[in-house]
Order: sequence, then structure tokens, then C-alpha cells
Amino acid sequence: MQVLIHSDQEKVAEHAYDFLRHIMKKRKRLVLGLASGSTPLRLFRKMVAGFTAGEVDFSSVYTFNLDEYVGLKPDDLQSYHCFMRASLFDHVNLNKDNVHFLSGIPEDIERHCEDYEQQIREVGGIDLQILGIGRNGHIGFNEPTSSLASRTRMVILTQGTIRDNERFFPNKEDVPGRALTMGVGTILEARELLLLATGSEKARALAAMIEGPVTAMCPASALQMHPSVTVLCDQAAAQKLTHTEYYEQVAGKENAATGNLPYEQRQT
Ligand code: F6R
Repeated sequence: MQVLIHSDQEKVAEHAYDFLRHIMKKRKRLVLGLASGSTPLRLFRKMVAGFTAGEVDFSSVYTFNLDEYVGLKPDDLQSYHCFMRASLFDHVNLNKDNVHFLSGIPEDIERHCEDYEQQIREVGGIDLQILGIGRNGHIGFNEPTSSLASRTRMVILTQGTIRDNERFFPNKEDVPGRALTMGVGTILEARELLLLATGSEKARALAAMIEGPVTAMCPASALQMHPSVTVLCDQAAAQKLTHTEYYEQVAGKENAATGNLPYEQRQT
């Protein structure tokens, strides 16, 4: 796992965009896993700006979002569908047929989740999965105690997650209590993982994920089992890490500060 600590969230987004741009250049066709929520918003803005400036082309990009609230229709303002359209999809040249989403209103939940996994397999698997992390260590909506081998399925959200996501809804009572999410096992099958974490409220979860034991109590800790993980975080989120000197040594101190580490020199 490579951990790169930046001064602030803007630098994290800049580095994430560079990372993605580099991979998009290398691959003719890219299958991209996406997270929603506040953390990737700056990255999405950079992707839109990069597309507008002619730096990146999404015509051969396939996307799979991690999760969706159960009960919300794609055009409900608080759905992740709607969020993704407003913040990214409507502003770049993604082919609509290449955009994949879990439905919040599937007729048959189990079948729908199996179909989603099948769709991922049919395009050859996810090349790069972008992740955020919940304050409780969740990835996607895999809450603590989720099996680290779990597949796409319906989950019950913790009260903590419901409280954390209240800010996106008019009232607390409107936050759905259930969601569909890719499983931890599904996420671990992506070829490369890029996790973004910003803000002091993520510090405890980030330290547990990187330096704690691998445990279902912190589903993100399963990333320790993946051979190709890059963590981009700001200093606020990194404040509870204890091995920062080593992370900076690996990254090259100056490069860690400026975010200019050449990809060819990346180590995991
Ligand atoms: C959402 C997702 C979640 C979020 C996490 C952090 O698609 O995958 O795991 O990444 O809840 O959310 P924010 O970024 O809003 O703090």
C-alpha cells in the first residue's frame, strides 16, 4: 500500500486527477469504479475541467458505481444516480450505455445484485476503483462486521452512517436505512484501488485501515490484502498515522509534499 500525504484536499484531488489521467492515457479502454459522497467531488470537478480542456476523453470509459440507497429512484435528488449525473456524468463524453449503477428500486434485489456482478465480469473486471472511507471504516456501504469476502448485496446502514449522510437530505427521517453495495470481495477484485480521505473526521478510520489489524470491524482494512493500493490523504486525515516518516521515505519526501511522484517510481 502506498500512502501519500498532502497538505490539503485540493492537493489530494490534483494528485487523484493526475493518477487517473495517467491511467486513461495508458489504456485505450478503462473500466472505472466510482464512489459518491463529498470526498471525490473535487476530483470530479477536475475530471470535468480536464474534459473541457481536451486533456481527457471518456468515450472508452466504462463506469460502475459502488452503491445506491434502497427506495430512491434514479431521478430522486438524493439518489447517488442523480448525484453522479449532476457532478460528473452530464458534463463529460461518457457513453450512457457504459454507465452502470445499482438500482435503488430493483424488482428482485438478489437477482439485481448478481446481474451487477455479471456486468462487471462481462467488461473484464474493474481496472481502477476509486474509494472514499466512512468514519466507521466502511468502503462502499460495507459497514463494520461486513464479511471481507462479501459480494454485491443489500445492507442495513448503521445509525452513524445515517447521521453522517443526513446532510444530503432535507430531514434525518428521509435518509434510507438500507442500501445496495458492491461487497468487500467485489471491491478487492479491482486491479487497482485508489482511496481518497480528507478531513480530521476520517483520521481514526484511516489509521485503522492502514495500520490496524485486518478486521471486519474496519472493512477498509481488507485493502491490506490487495497488492495495488494507493491512498491519497490530507494531513488532517493522516493525523493518527504513526508511520508517516516511512510513507514519506517511500514516496520521496519532496515528491510527497508536491504530489509529483513519477508513477514509474511508485512502490507498494
Ligand atoms: C459512497 C461510498 C462511501 C463514501 C463514504 C465517505 O459511494 O462509497 O463509502 O465514500 O461514506 O463519504 P464522504 O466522502 O461523503 O465522506
